[in-house]
Amino acid sequence: MQIGFLTCPGTHPGSDRRREDAYEHDMQVAALRPAMEERGMALTEIDWRAPIEAFVDFPLVLVGTPWDYQDAEAEFLGKLDALEGSGRQVCNPAALVRWNARKTYLKDLATRGAATIPTIWLERATAEDIVRALDAFGSEAVVAKRQVGAGAEGQSIHHAGALDPAWKMEQPMMLQPYLDQITREGEYSFLFVDGAFSHALLKRAADGDYRVQSIYGGTEEALTPSTADLAAAQRIFAAVPFDTPLYARIDMVRGDDGALMLMEAEMIEPYLYPEQGPQLGVMMAEAIERRLG
Ligand SMILES: Nc1ncnc2c1ncn2[C@@H]1O[C@H](COP(=O)(O)OP(=O)(O)O)[C@@H](O)[C@H]1O
Ligand SMILES: [Mg+2]
Repeated sequence: MQIGFLTCPGTHPGSDRRREDAYEHDMQVAALRPAMEERGMALTEIDWRAPIEAFVDFPLVLVGTPWDYQDAEAEFLGKLDALEGSGRQVCNPAALVRWNARKTYLKDLATRGAATIPTIWLERATAEDIVRALDAFGSEAVVAKRQVGAGAEGQSIHHAGALDPAWKMEQPMMLQPYLDQITREGEYSFLFVDGAFSHALLKRAADGDYRVQSIYGGTEEALTPSTADLAAAQRIFAAVPFDTPLYARIDMVRGDDGALMLMEAEMIEPYLYPEQGPQLGVMMAEAIERRLG
């Protein structure tokens, strides 16, 4: 049985436009493929922009590594709808992906009791909004992000006393206080497969940066979370207003009160850090088998 794994030119094997961090695609596939093969499933990489007819042999399609969807959101969500409409099972499902593609989902999770970072939501912003946010948060710096974004693209940090008066952002965006635990401690990731906790890790930014992503020189190490930290991640997971996702990565950072707060709940195309969780491939393969009935 063939299982589709969505890619993009930045991640597809053999593409001449592969990204610097495409090795993460290779590691994720290397973790899944053998465990799936042992259970009679062949993982087949396919560009998400391939015509719908190209998916006919896949009863189930993993959203995989379409790491350019944020620049073609409508087309991407339309393709997931079309896949489901033609009888494929998509993991995670189109409705969950649509909800998760816009960081406004953080508001829904906060309403359902999740610990989230205070956020100001704006359709566009100027330096004056940064001044107001610094004041409202009482913080030393503010982070500006796109509402639809990934990999810290289009993101900027603004320190009080070093503001650029000409700065502006002309798309739906969000402002948060800069939480300095990100550089002092790091960002936690908790991986869940079909509702079960798989593993956790701590991601640290390179010296002089605050972004933990590997593309900016960030590094990560496996970690056994404390009971309280794991419970904090489980509370976020439990607040997701959909059926249990096949996979989820809950990214958290510690607030001033010592409790973990949600940075983002990634259920579209997260890197699942298989190096820090060697059981990941088997857990995913078993969960896919269950979904196929
Ligand atoms: N409020 C914040 N305080 C400190 N660091 C932040 C904050 N928001 C984002 N960052 C940093 O920027 C990175 C990317 O932000 P994130 O919200 O995860 O968006 P993306 O979808 O682009 O990954 C985070 O992993 C973290 O390193
Ligand atoms: Mg992130």
